Amino acid sequence: MIVLGIESSCDETAAAVVRAGHQVLGSVVASQVKLHAGYGGVIPELAAREHLRNITPVVAEALTQSGLGIDAVSAVAVTNLPGLIPALLVGNAYAKGLAACRKIPLLGINHFEAHIYGAFLEHPELLADSANFPVLALVVSGGHTALVLIAADGRAEILGATLDDAAGEALDKAAKILGLGYPGGPVIDRIAKDGDPHAFAFPQGLRRSGGRPVPPELRFSFSFSGVKTALLYAVRGRQLSSQELADVVASYQRAVMEVLVSKTILAAQETAARLLCLCGGVACNSYLRGRMHEAAAGIGRQLLLTEPKYCGDNAAMVAGLGWHYARRGITDELSLPVAARLPAQLGSFPFAPAFVKE
Ligand code: KG4
Ligand code: ZN
Repeated sequence: MIVLGIESSCDETAAAVVRAGHQVLGSVVASQVKLHAGYGGVIPELAAREHLRNITPVVAEALTQSGLGIDAVSAVAVTNLPGLIPALLVGNAYAKGLAACRKIPLLGINHFEAHIYGAFLEHPELLADSANFPVLALVVSGGHTALVLIAADGRAEILGATLDDAAGEALDKAAKILGLGYPGGPVIDRIAKDGDPHAFAFPQGLRRSGGRPVPPELRFSFSFSGVKTALLYAVRGRQLSSQELADVVASYQRAVMEVLVSKTILAAQETAARLLCLCGGVACNSYLRGRMHEAAAGIGRQLLLTEPKYCGDNAAMVAGLGWHYARRGITDELSLPVAARLPAQLGSFPFAPAFVKE
């Protein structure tokens, strides 16, 4: 079965054509980074207008790459939450129009769940083997930072999430403070390579440090607002040389990433997770990938790093995840709503691709 995926939740207009949940026949991502760069963040209204301009050519290009016509598509999957409402509405209106006129099922996709699935796009065999469960996923993007434990029956439990900023947001805001442009993650990743990560002692939020214990109920939670404020005070009124800038950036990146690594390892040990996976836009970060590799090896766990091309927002993860729902006949009505946030009760959710015991 071939699923067409559509993604428009933030500042990427993406479409993909995916067979059997993981064979990516066509995948196109049109980034709006340049459009929003001058504002230091994404402007929802501008994003929506740009999605409107891009969506038809992006879908057409994904189909051309696949070598297939629209009549080969059996279902259309679209991110319907969470995201910027005006942006989501463009992709959802397009997908609904397509589903209605082609008389094919519509599949509403949770973007958060799709990021987890993105890790498995090139390794579907790992999901089919119950010996890999429980799987522990660290989802780190511009909108999310959470640790998710997935059991072999598909029950996914959020062990902890950020109490304030997401990790990607902390990087984007730091770049704004330092005048490095938007998005901050890639530029911080690059500049940090020339700096000393131990030059500045930035705080590592909700991590046991300096002898101050973290309350047990917050051991898997994250907080990045403190490190951002510490950065602001460290550089306020100072003219940084390029070496000092690199040192600040490297130290800041280290503070953010070491919290992610240490909490993932703690959760892996406590839950006896078999396979660790790193997903979302921040999973592109070279420091995080390297450190996670060392740390997972240190406790003898297998690590799955999402392919860089599937870390950031893309529609292959949406189409691939959609296939798992479509094959079980779990589809949506054309009245499918969009939502800015994940449902409040989302302490646990079903992760359909992991239903290995059917
Ligand atoms: O998954 P994504 O494309 O969109 C959301 O769902 O939020 O993630 C975007 C985030 C941004 O905060 C961006 O700065 C960050 O991912 N990012 C990175 C890197 N590339 C993108 N963060 C750290 N290092 C990178 N190389
Ligand atoms: Zn995303």
